[in-house]
Amino acid sequence: MATDTLDPFRGASYEIAETIAPTWERRRADIEDVATPVREWMLRELAPREADTVLELAAGTGDTGFAAAAIVGDRGRLISTDFSPAMLDAARRRGDELGVANVTYGVMDAERIELDTDSVDGVLCRFGYMLMADPAAALAETRRVLRRGGRLTLAVWGAPERNPFFAVIAMSLVQRGHVPPPDPSGPGIFSMASAERTTTLLTHAGFSEVRTEDVQGRFPLPDVDEYLSVIADTAGPLGLAVRGLSEPDRAAVKTDVEKAFAGFAGERGYQVPAVALCAVAS
Ligand SMILES: C[S@@+](CC[C@H](N)C(=O)[O-])C[C@H]1O[C@@H](n2cnc3c(N)ncnc32)[C@H](O)[C@@H]1O
Repeated sequence: MATDTLDPFRGASYEIAETIAPTWERRRADIEDVATPVREWMLRELAPREADTVLELAAGTGDTGFAAAAIVGDRGRLISTDFSPAMLDAARRRGDELGVANVTYGVMDAERIELDTDSVDGVLCRFGYMLMADPAAALAETRRVLRRGGRLTLAVWGAPERNPFFAVIAMSLVQRGHVPPPDPSGPGIFSMASAERTTTLLTHAGFSEVRTEDVQGRFPLPDVDEYLSVIADTAGPLGLAVRGLSEPDRAAVKTDVEKAFAGFAGERGYQVPAVALCAVAS
């Protein structure tokens, strides 16, 4: 992404996170159901130990980190962070609901982590780096704050051809002129979908051991209206575009989606595949 477009992008991305936070929080349990295999992969590969300090970046409502907090116990600590204060408030409410006591919350931009060098044992970031203006900077910051031997586990969305949940709406909205085509060098849902690119970003950031794996998920959806509402509630710029569609435009997009999802229809609606690219690095 060109340097002069980084700051306008950061501002827009911040505003989108703030706008979407209330509906993201409302959808929290649904998101977590679908993301369970990803959360479990990330925890297993991070393998936190009792008394560790774990940092979660771009935490959203924070569930991935809260799973780590339960493992590190009273002598350990979770630092749950997001650059959106509204998202962090939602994480705080979720942490209170779960009774998590060993957590510190912080509004923090992952590109400028306000923590000491070599100060954490593990970092989690689920569906965050791909949306950042400068993921290389965020990964270098991640490496800086990790102690020697500490691990990062991350998840980003995998390739569009295996990810109809996001690819279908993105294609319809682009083809119908409701959103611009994605900038191949900029952030976005699929910007780290290539295992090769993600591995290169990690090694350039100073990680020496990197392994990636595809983790398959499936979104159960009763119908396409519900699909469009889930997208409107959670999918960043695509979601805001869906919110702004006129009735006839929405009907046209709905027809595109119905056609594309026909192969995923079953007795109780649709089971739409989505694949996450997960990575562990140290
Ligand atoms: C798709 S949501 C994922 C939330 C959560 N990790 C999850 O998996 O449910 C992306 C999150 O990244 C956050 N985010 C985007 N750019 C960020 C940045 N530069 N620094 C910190 N957080 C960021 C947003 O505020 C949002 O909460």
